[in-house]
Amino acid sequence: MLQLTHARYLPEAPEHAAAVIALADEAFGPGRFVRAAERVREMVPHDPRLSFTALVDGSVAGSVRQTPIRIGDRHALMLGPLVVKPAHKGLGLGRTLMRLAADAARNAGETAIVLVGDRAYYMPLGYEPMPQGSVEFPGPVDWRRILALPLVAGSLEGLSGRITDR
Ligand SMILES: CC(C)(COP(=O)(O)OP(=O)(O)OC[C@H]1O[C@@H](n2cnc3c(N)ncnc32)[C@H](O)[C@@H]1OP(=O)(O)O)[C@@H](O)C(=O)NCCC(=O)NCCS
Repeated sequence: MLQLTHARYLPEAPEHAAAVIALADEAFGPGRFVRAAERVREMVPHDPRLSFTALVDGSVAGSVRQTPIRIGDRHALMLGPLVVKPAHKGLGLGRTLMRLAADAARNAGETAIVLVGDRAYYMPLGYEPMPQGSVEFPGPVDWRRILALPLVAGSLEGLSGRITDR
């Protein structure tokens, strides 16, 4: 894999927000607002301290956001969107953003991160499929795409219920 050496990674700052939203619009299109994960994000704002921006030549080239939620009666984070600008794909930005997000979450005392995404991309990063019916999103979602990362051993056991605000 090519390594991009001139990418800089920063916690998301207010001046990144417009470019981050434009990136997500470009990647997912206007249909993204009907996605179940997006409904959660409309309900609860993301936490910029747990969200990261990749900058290449000073421009936003990638982003990951994390949103504090509750699943049933337990705290968790929801990760997403993860997006990398088409011109910078395949250079490791996505994986680096995912690692930064997990490290920041662990340091903040969080115990689990959930997301909706492709198993082929996220399982090599430590994400595990959640059992059917365990995590209830506020909208339809293919349960096979609900994945979670335990930040503490055993933290996914019994993690179930409706996603709500904290
Ligand atoms: C998915 C995405 C964030 C990956 O970012 P990236 O910086 O290109 O990823 P990395 O460079 O860290 O990793 C690239 C590797 O992931 C693989 N990959 C990318 N998307 C994948 C997917 N959906 N499923 C499986 N593997 C995937 C690439 O083939 C590549 O494999 P290789 O290292 O063996 O060549 C980026 O492709 C993107 O923005 N896609 C559009 C938005 C999206 O789908 N976001 C994820 C929502 S589930």
